[in-house]
Amino acid sequence: MDSNKSSITLGLIGFGNVGQGVHSIVQTNQGMIQDRLGQAVHIKTICVRNIDKYKGLANGAELTTDVNDIINDPDIDIVVEVIGGETPAYDYITEALKHKKYVVTANKELIAKHKKTFFELAKQNDVDIFFEASVGGGIPIIKSFKVGYSANQIESVYGILNGTTNFILTKLFENKQEFATVLKEAQDLGFAESDPTADVSGLDAAYKIVILTAVALKLNIQIDDVFYEGIDQIQLKDIQYLDELGYRVRLIAKAKRMAEGVFAAVYPTAIPSEHPLSTVRNEFNAIYSTGNMVGESMIYGKGAGSLPTGSAVMSDILDIAFDIYTHHSRRNLETKIDPTSVLGIDQNETQFYVRLSVKDETGALEKITTAFKDANINISNIIQKERLDGHAQVVILTDVVKEKTFNALKATMLDTDVIHAIDAVIRVGL
Ligand SMILES: NC(=O)c1ccc[n+]([C@@H]2O[C@H](COP(=O)([O-])OP(=O)(O)OC[C@H]3O[C@@H](n4cnc5c(N)ncnc54)[C@H](OP(=O)(O)O)[C@@H]3O)[C@@H](O)[C@H]2O)c1
Repeated sequence: MDSNKSSITLGLIGFGNVGQGVHSIVQTNQGMIQDRLGQAVHIKTICVRNIDKYKGLANGAELTTDVNDIINDPDIDIVVEVIGGETPAYDYITEALKHKKYVVTANKELIAKHKKTFFELAKQNDVDIFFEASVGGGIPIIKSFKVGYSANQIESVYGILNGTTNFILTKLFENKQEFATVLKEAQDLGFAESDPTADVSGLDAAYKIVILTAVALKLNIQIDDVFYEGIDQIQLKDIQYLDELGYRVRLIAKAKRMAEGVFAAVYPTAIPSEHPLSTVRNEFNAIYSTGNMVGESMIYGKGAGSLPTGSAVMSDILDIAFDIYTHHSRRNLETKIDPTSVLGIDQNETQFYVRLSVKDETGALEKITTAFKDANINISNIIQKERLDGHAQVVILTDVVKEKTFNALKATMLDTDVIHAIDAVIRVGL
């Protein structure tokens, strides 16, 4: 990139929610950007599949369906990939890097899967790839770990990284509705995709925790290393019972440095209602981390949306422009993300909330407590609830136990002649 140019020239690949957000920010904040940068930012070319859809929106930028109009254009300094998905975005990014273009992407799946390849390719070509918008939408979380917390060893990261599922969990609790009803409302309001599988299953948050593990913990893990479980089995009844016990349920993505390596997982987690993550409502995201010097901190904001996500993409563009215009700081290249052992879910240690349907007979509770005792699992709280479908409902909160130990008990629980069904199991505590 020529540092003497009077403007930074962009090529956008994709012009949907995020692409239009970037375009709008360039239009609205051009004066402010120019003051800060000493250069204007100019969108020269936009690549889409269907030009007709975008006529009248590009405001002077050239619309094309040929990505080479961007990648081969010597005028274009920064390629912004906002189409999503693995293919053809992977090819577009690698070609752009090979053509010595700086790349900005919002694509969590691609960064999670191909980070090492991109970082190395960027280094070989003396450029860089930025991906602030890939985690936490408008929240500047990547920059916080790369710059703000850079004097720390980050020990753990706990994130509410998916706005759709947080919106659903909030409404389940506050409006006392069941999952399917709230999902429909989220779709009507535009917070959930028409196909919400990646969000609801926890996969979207799993990609994001792979990225945060690289950026915050400096450890290289793969998506297959991450145990993930979604929120589709969560019932209103359990959210209410956990509330009575002092907990809120959130879909937590976590990465924790352990003596043996790292543990990374995504699952619905009951967290104490006074914990800062419990206060994160609706479509908001938050990342709560612990650094060995800074201690605990939390960053909170909008995890999606055209302008918040556009704001994150734009901040990467400005960051690149600052580096190029002033000097090569190179702080962004993440080539040193180390291999690590990844602990399986069996090694996880947590409390469990369990709801059982129990035969309504004398001595039933005693038989259950004996089963837990025989499995070496301490019960912290056991409460008999109202009857449902002819069975007593019993809620149990265990002490912290290895997941493997709990699963062994779960596999044999129905062998006790008093337990009719295991209706819910939710992990408790971060
Ligand atoms: N939306 C958010 O709030 C948000 C938040 C964080 C991160 N992200 C990430 O940002 C990226 C973009 O998301 P989005 O919501 O903006 O998507 P979107 O609204 O569906 O827009 C996608 C755009 O990419 C274009 N496109 C798709 N395939 C293409 C191809 N092969 N060649 C050229 N153009 C192509 C589409 O053009 P046509 O209409 O012509 O097909 C459309 O303009 C994704 O990686 C997403 O995960 C989004």
